[in-house]
Amino acid sequence: MTNFKTLDDLGDIRGKVALVRVDLNLPMKDGRVTDDTRVRAAVPTILELADAGAKVLLLAHFGRPKGERVSTQSLSMVVETVRNVLGREVMFIPEIAGPVVAQAIGILGEGGIGILENTRFWKGEEKNDPDLAKAIAANADFYVNDAFSAAHRAHATTEGLAHVLPAYAGRAMQAELEALEKALGKPAKPVAAVVGGAKVSSKLDVLKHLVTKVDHLIIGGGMANTFLAARGVDVGKSLCEHDLASTAEEILTAADAAGCTVHLPYDVVVAREFAPNPPSVRTCNVHEVAADEMILDIGPAATEALADVLKTCRTLVWNGPLGAFETPPFDTATVSLARTAAALTGEGSLVSVAGGGDTVAALNQARVGDQFSYVSTAGGAFLEWMEGKDLPGVVALQR
Ligand code: 3PG
Repeated sequence: MTNFKTLDDLGDIRGKVALVRVDLNLPMKDGRVTDDTRVRAAVPTILELADAGAKVLLLAHFGRPKGERVSTQSLSMVVETVRNVLGREVMFIPEIAGPVVAQAIGILGEGGIGILENTRFWKGEEKNDPDLAKAIAANADFYVNDAFSAAHRAHATTEGLAHVLPAYAGRAMQAELEALEKALGKPAKPVAAVVGGAKVSSKLDVLKHLVTKVDHLIIGGGMANTFLAARGVDVGKSLCEHDLASTAEEILTAADAAGCTVHLPYDVVVAREFAPNPPSVRTCNVHEVAADEMILDIGPAATEALADVLKTCRTLVWNGPLGAFETPPFDTATVSLARTAAALTGEGSLVSVAGGGDTVAALNQARVGDQFSYVSTAGGAFLEWMEGKDLPGVVALQR
């Protein structure tokens, strides 16, 4: 997956205009940005281009305004955050193509940085309209895609632009693709995958793909209950998709055929109510869950056994928590196994790659977010990659 151009392939870019697709779909509350991780991820690319004298125009979407100008979804709202994170002056440009952008480019000096308006205010963005891509490209010399987390969208600014301008992967995109290649492309074996989260139904394609790719598949979270139930375990009141029993069976059969060992918990932490530190919490064998109890985490014996599995592995891909990690003490297994993975990574025996919504939060809760080899902040794009799908934004860079 490394056959794409990077910023190393750019020649002299002094005075040239760079269109840089970043992900500024930032979490906001009351009009304020609550997490600037995605801005920080884009900093190396933006500064490298600006310091080489290019005029840098940032392109991004925000929310899903469906081709209409929605004032509460204007990218003007993130300008201050971007300015603060970059420590540079940033100009807001309320269009993405045409004379207003051309005029702004005339005002920007070499190394100047501008943010164009929310690309999804234009209907052609999500339709991947080639005319829109051409109109945006008309003001620029080259295109850089640094938004892996939007690369599963075949939109004008995530895919289309790569067909009409010389296209390069930004530093964050490059790091992401290199890490993913190490994790599932050409990984050091044995490979383990942790897949957790509430529902099997949301990760069926992930599981089906992984059983053909990894040596050990560790299933946790609510989805483990569906697999346990499929194997005839009475999971009591646990979150469980009983209607997916046969699908779970098929996945287990496919795993067997591919030589992938599936690890399901054999001891679990249960409670009668889902609340912080409930009085009814106890640990038991999976075959001893009472009819009025819920499985809320993997038990200590299973967690220790999983740590032993990781010790034999060279590569780990992690998506989703093992238990209901937002509510103590049901974060115990996730925190413990994450710390084992971090320690093995630190010792140099494991390449660990994690990603997807809750996963980053869970690793941060275990205070090991910075001790994995790579943590992706992408949500949907990371899952589609785990499903083995080609991401249009990445494929376009490889042309
Ligand atoms: C994200 O937030 O995961 C990306 O920016 C993609 O956003 P979307 O799901 O609205 O396309």
